[in-house]
Amino acid sequence: MTETLATTAAEGYAFSHAQDTDTPALAALWERAGLTRPWNDPLADIALARRGPHSTILVARRDGALAGSVMVGHDGHRGWVYYLAVEPDLQGKGLGRALLTAAEDWLRARAVPKLMLLVRPDNEAVRGFYAAVGYLEEPRVVFSRRLDGK
Ligand SMILES: CC(C)(COP(=O)(O)OP(=O)(O)OC[C@H]1O[C@@H](n2cnc3c(N)ncnc32)[C@H](O)[C@@H]1OP(=O)(O)O)[C@@H](O)C(=O)NCCC(=O)NCCS
Repeated sequence: MTETLATTAAEGYAFSHAQDTDTPALAALWERAGLTRPWNDPLADIALARRGPHSTILVARRDGALAGSVMVGHDGHRGWVYYLAVEPDLQGKGLGRALLTAAEDWLRARAVPKLMLLVRPDNEAVRGFYAAVGYLEEPRVVFSRRLDGK
């Protein structure tokens, strides 16, 4: 999909779905934003999310350059957000909020009633951001199992 998203604007930014050509810049942005982990391959994550139809990566551009991203997907009932990232020198000016709103709009358009996301408990800064933009912290224990043998 190449259309520009008519979603909540952040002044000076254009929102759209990530394209093939965005992959290296996306992986570099996630690295700079501290979101990559040795056990996750960002290139594989980008390819999987962009495969759709129940997931996508939304990006914000300024003068054509990648400024921020959010990965969003859903299982029908719950939507999930990952890789919300704003270029470090552009943080604190409303773009993170606007990207999150773009992800909410994408889920709302698919009648998904709830958005979930995971934050590491020691990440106080990001907890502060989500609280500031109206998210509730819910006490849950998360279970997981790797299916890829890692
Ligand atoms: C988290 C992140 C996406 C936020 O984006 P941002 O553009 O800096 O945030 P915004 O400017 O949109 O902030 C929105 C609101 O949150 C508030 N906020 C941001 N960080 C905050 C913090 N640490 N504590 C309290 N409030 C905070 C802002 O003051 C603002 O409130 P206001 O609109 O009332 O002034 C960005 O900091 C980032 O990319 N961090 C690194 C990657 C990361 O950790 N992503 C989250 C993965 S779960």
